[in-house]
Amino acid sequence: MIVVTTIEELKRTIRQYRREASEGRIGLVPTMGYLHEGHASLMRRARTECGYAVLSIFVNPLQFGPNEDYDQYPRDAKRDIELAEKNGIDLIFMPSVQEMYPSKPLTSVLVNQVTERLCGASRPGHFDGVGTVVSKLFHLVQPDRAYFGMKDAQQVAVIQRMVYDLNIPVEIVPCDTVREADGLAMSSRNVYLSPEARAQAVVLSQALASAEQWVKEPGITAQQLGERIRQAIAKAPLADIDYAEILEYPDLTVPPADADLSRYPNKLIVALAVKFGKTRLIDNRLLDSM
Ligand code: PAJ
Repeated sequence: MIVVTTIEELKRTIRQYRREASEGRIGLVPTMGYLHEGHASLMRRARTECGYAVLSIFVNPLQFGPNEDYDQYPRDAKRDIELAEKNGIDLIFMPSVQEMYPSKPLTSVLVNQVTERLCGASRPGHFDGVGTVVSKLFHLVQPDRAYFGMKDAQQVAVIQRMVYDLNIPVEIVPCDTVREADGLAMSSRNVYLSPEARAQAVVLSQALASAEQWVKEPGITAQQLGERIRQAIAKAPLADIDYAEILEYPDLTVPPADADLSRYPNKLIVALAVKFGKTRLIDNRLLDSM
């Protein structure tokens, strides 16, 4: 496994892969580091499906708002490199901010509509930062496939739409959310939960599992389902709900208010963002109503 920090070295290695590529495919797993089992599952999938598995580790300042946790975002390069090696990564691209943004970019990739709700609404500009950096990574690595976790389902919808609209020649592979034993979705931010908050954070996955049952009740509307979900989360005294929404997926549009969700023809997602102190957790579940 090699670790490169400059675009020049990255390009040189990718060119070499392309020349050698007998079995072809280059797989890319974009991350912000502080890797856990969720990231590892993406790496293993890239390893299995592609001749070369590339991991990028870059905490992208463009996708953090002014009052967000860019400076506090956890980092541990040494551990990340070890974990990548164990999971079969061939090449890690770990650029500095200066390397990725030698000057403030004047161009940004903005995906409309699917970014209007959920994290797009509560974190203005976030997805412009994501779209811009992922598009840069796609141009630099030129992967055949890129692996993204459904934990960030809106991010998957945004990237898929960007790739579709701009004809970027990459296949997006959505991967299942990896969870702790009690159901909490793994996240680099979980380390910041206090022991009490960590114990209570299980309400997110529990509310989502209940929603899967509730949505089968004939006549249930989005408002009623949303209300029950919010009540389930509110049982955790430390939980502060940012959003709890039921939307169509992947368009992320609102179903009609009077629609019977138990018989809804389109795929639905329940998406949650809940703060425990300063730590904001997200989770979601695609519903099987029919
Ligand atoms: P990051 O939060 O580090 O996540 C990197 C990838 O790992 C994303 O595709 C995310 O959905 C996936 N992931 C995180 N937790 C997961 C879990 N519990 N199970 C499965 N997959 C999980 O998402 C980003 O970084 C950034 O926005 C990025 C795409 C790298 C652009 O900067």
